[in-house]
Amino acid sequence: MGRRYLITGASAGIGAAFARTLAGQGATPILVARRLDRLTALAGEIRDAHGIDSEIHVCDLSDRNAVDALIKVIEGPVDGLINNAGYSIAHTFAVTPLEAQMAFVETSVNTPTRLARAFLPGMIERGWGRIINLSSIVAFSAGAAGHTLYPAAKAYMLKFSRSLAAEVKDKGVHVTALCPGSTVSEFTHANGTEKAADHSPFRPLMPTQAVVDAGLRASDAGREVEIPGLFNKAAVAAMTLLPDALLTPLIRQGAKRFMIED
Ligand SMILES: NC(=O)c1ccc[n+]([C@@H]2O[C@H](COP(=O)([O-])OP(=O)(O)OC[C@H]3O[C@@H](n4cnc5c(N)ncnc54)[C@H](OP(=O)(O)O)[C@@H]3O)[C@@H](O)[C@H]2O)c1
Repeated sequence: MGRRYLITGASAGIGAAFARTLAGQGATPILVARRLDRLTALAGEIRDAHGIDSEIHVCDLSDRNAVDALIKVIEGPVDGLINNAGYSIAHTFAVTPLEAQMAFVETSVNTPTRLARAFLPGMIERGWGRIINLSSIVAFSAGAAGHTLYPAAKAYMLKFSRSLAAEVKDKGVHVTALCPGSTVSEFTHANGTEKAADHSPFRPLMPTQAVVDAGLRASDAGREVEIPGLFNKAAVAAMTLLPDALLTPLIRQGAKRFMIED
């Protein structure tokens, strides 16, 4: 039997592309998201293409009890964990209900941490494991109005990955923070900024497959941080090297179109 990879947010976008690609490499995907119809359709597609039976788990990853139940119900080894599920809230902090912000933190920060803590010991014991945490190039940004917690959550994923990588690099477990820029997916549809994204001249979208291929290559090579694509690498270099006083106003001006006015 091939390696078993648990992929959160497998019902769309980057997560679905991870599932297809890993199955193409002989791995068994453990598909997790809220939309059962999507997961069932993807599992059928993977079975037809590769003859592999995926596992399906419907789970709201913002619900701590549901995540605990998910961890309990998974049987057998989890060799790979793709902490991918995510979204952003385009409104400003003050007008967004606290429950919505806390659900965001739960989904984007706490749940990936809990899943890593649940499955890492088994990986260490078996001497082989892969964890890919979806961060973003915005982890390197100064932040902007709207999507208030998103850069903070993605910076957490970046730093968490790096520390974890330092702890397990000699144990056969590779931990990678994958930091895409704007990627073709349902992300802007989900957060209500699809129109703005469609009309932005500054958003060269990467195909999900390119993001996934770069992420899996980096993971196999044991790289801690992967920024897929030249444009994204240049953007991160600019955010890291240019003076804040120069760059931050530019980023904040550009980000305005992606926030939803109160
Ligand atoms: N697209 C980009 O431009 C971009 C850039 C940088 C980083 N990223 C990151 O890449 C990751 C994947 O995003 P994507 O672009 O593929 O977005 P997407 O197409 O909107 O997919 C998001 C996935 O997350 C799942 N999800 C969201 N909330 C969930 C919850 N509470 N419980 C369970 N599953 C949940 C969704 O499944 P259900 O709705 O079925 O639950 C869906 O499968 C995210 O972490 C995102 O922050 C995206």
